[in-house]
Amino acid sequence: MVHADASNFAEGVTKEQAYEQVLLQAGGLFDGQRNWVCNLANAASLLWHAYKSLPHPSNQVNWAGFYTLDPQATYSKSQLILGPFQGKVACQLIAFGKGVCGTAAATQTTQLVADVEKFPGHIACDGDSRSEIVVPIVVGAAGEKKLVAIIDVDCAELDGFDEVDRKYLEQLAELLGRSCDW
Ligand code: SME
Repeated sequence: MVHADASNFAEGVTKEQAYEQVLLQAGGLFDGQRNWVCNLANAASLLWHAYKSLPHPSNQVNWAGFYTLDPQATYSKSQLILGPFQGKVACQLIAFGKGVCGTAAATQTTQLVADVEKFPGHIACDGDSRSEIVVPIVVGAAGEKKLVAIIDVDCAELDGFDEVDRKYLEQLAELLGRSCDW
C-alpha cells in the first residue's frame, strides 16, 4: 500500500469505523517514527480525510490539528503554539487558560463545546466555526502529568461532536502521547 492510501476512507462507514481506521493507520505510521512534527502531521491528515468521508455534521469539520506546548513558554506564562493541521490559517499562540484550547491545556481535560459562542473567552480564529472539541495530550506518570499538546477539531455546524468523538480522540491523544518524543 502506498502511504497516501492510509487517508482513503470508504464511503458509508460509521464514525466509529472511521475513527478505528484512523487509530489503526496512525499506529502503523508511528511504528519506527517518534518525531512529533511528522506524526502530528500525518494524524491531522488522517482526521481530516476521515471527517470528509462521514455524513453531516462530521463532514462540516473545518479545522483539524494540533497546538503544542510552546518551548519558549515560561513557568509563569505557559502557552501553546500552532502545530500541524488541516484547514485555514489559524492563531499562532494561545495562552494557557484562554479559549477552548487554553482551557483544555490548563485543566488537562477534554472540552466538548456544542456552541462556541456560549464558551467564555472562545478565540474566534475562524468565524465559520460553530462547535469544537479539544483533547489534551499528556505524558508522564500519575501525579506528574505534563501537557505536551492538544488535539483541536472545529466544525462549521452547531453540536458537531459527541461522546464518540471524545472517546476516539482521547484514544488518539493517548497513542500520540506514548508514540512521540516530546
Ligand atoms: N477556537 C479555539 C482557537 C483555535 S482555532 O479554533 C484553530 C479556541 O477557542 O481555543
